[in-house]
Amino acid sequence: MRYVEVGGAKVSAIGLGCWQFGSREWGYGDSYAQTTARELVRRALDLGINLIDTAEIYGFGRSERIVGEALGDRRDEAFIATKVFPVVPLAPVVEDRAKRSARRLGVSLIDLYQVHWPNPVVPLSATMDGMRRVQDTGLVTHAGVSNFSLQRWQRAERELGGPVLSNQVRFSLVDRRPERDLVPWAASEGRIVIAYSPLAQGLLGGRYDRDHLPSGMRANTPAFLPDNLERAQPLIHTLREIAQTHSATPAQIALGWVIRRPNTVAIPGASTVEQLERNAAAADIELTDEEDGRLSAAAGAYDPVRGLEAVRTIASRRLSSLLRR
Ligand SMILES: NC(=O)c1ccc[n+]([C@@H]2O[C@H](COP(=O)([O-])OP(=O)(O)OC[C@H]3O[C@@H](n4cnc5c(N)ncnc54)[C@H](OP(=O)(O)O)[C@@H]3O)[C@@H](O)[C@H]2O)c1
Repeated sequence: MRYVEVGGAKVSAIGLGCWQFGSREWGYGDSYAQTTARELVRRALDLGINLIDTAEIYGFGRSERIVGEALGDRRDEAFIATKVFPVVPLAPVVEDRAKRSARRLGVSLIDLYQVHWPNPVVPLSATMDGMRRVQDTGLVTHAGVSNFSLQRWQRAERELGGPVLSNQVRFSLVDRRPERDLVPWAASEGRIVIAYSPLAQGLLGGRYDRDHLPSGMRANTPAFLPDNLERAQPLIHTLREIAQTHSATPAQIALGWVIRRPNTVAIPGASTVEQLERNAAAADIELTDEEDGRLSAAAGAYDPVRGLEAVRTIASRRLSSLLRR
């Protein structure tokens, strides 16, 4: 495993995303929550993955509980990242919710506590006061944010009066906005960009097409519309070609591309232990500049149906499936 070491933190380039644990949206069922999820956490540690990312909102606390139980006496091997869901994120609320998360995780210290989303109503200063409090009391080591623009991330630092170690954002070959400003800033200031949905929720694994759609919430998202799956095929073809030269899989190449950006780590979720093992191995893939350029060009040419048109298509698909029942 490769690690990014900045700001006193040592974080694996590939982490483990735990939204899937106990969350109904993914449709993985009870045996996943009861067995596979726990195996994923322990296998991740075996492979040198220390970044374990969860949130109080995932499965309404279930994900944190599963992570805590799975870690057991191996807590010290993990860099535990969780998030406060920003409903009324005033300082005392942040403090209270951090304590509850720690209890569910069964730990006395949260390595990274992240503000899950910006709150447009509550002043950021109030939320960051809460983040400072949990750091001052020793419950949290590093403060982080998620889904923040660069300006808001910088403002969060000013309000905290210290570094906000990381910003967790959607970042993959099909969502490259963080490359513009977040990654360069993180690289110059010694911060970390944590890439979520680095496989575009499985799209970049190349398993899905018009005739093989995922179940659960993904079936009703723009990326998995049959037309968009069709439009993603040239990019997936490029991933496959490059994968062949590395004896790797398309998903591994997609992850390799993300973590090739400076100060960037990725937290793919996994539905099986085998996927997790492959994802961990992606940290060792060394793409050439030429391959990186080909991937970026193929990603640039991907032009999915978006916005209102996508919403309309999803609505009409849902309506016809309801009418068929
Ligand atoms: N901060 C935020 O707002 C936010 C938002 C979203 C996610 N997150 C975090 O980011 C994590 C990851 O994001 P995500 O789960 O949305 O998307 P993702 O990591 O891009 O996709 C995960 C899915 O891809 C498939 N997959 C994983 N490894 C694979 C492999 N080697 N080959 C082929 N397919 C593979 C699996 O689904 P199938 O096998 O079922 O296809 C898996 O559930 C989450 O668990 C969560 O911790 C944070």
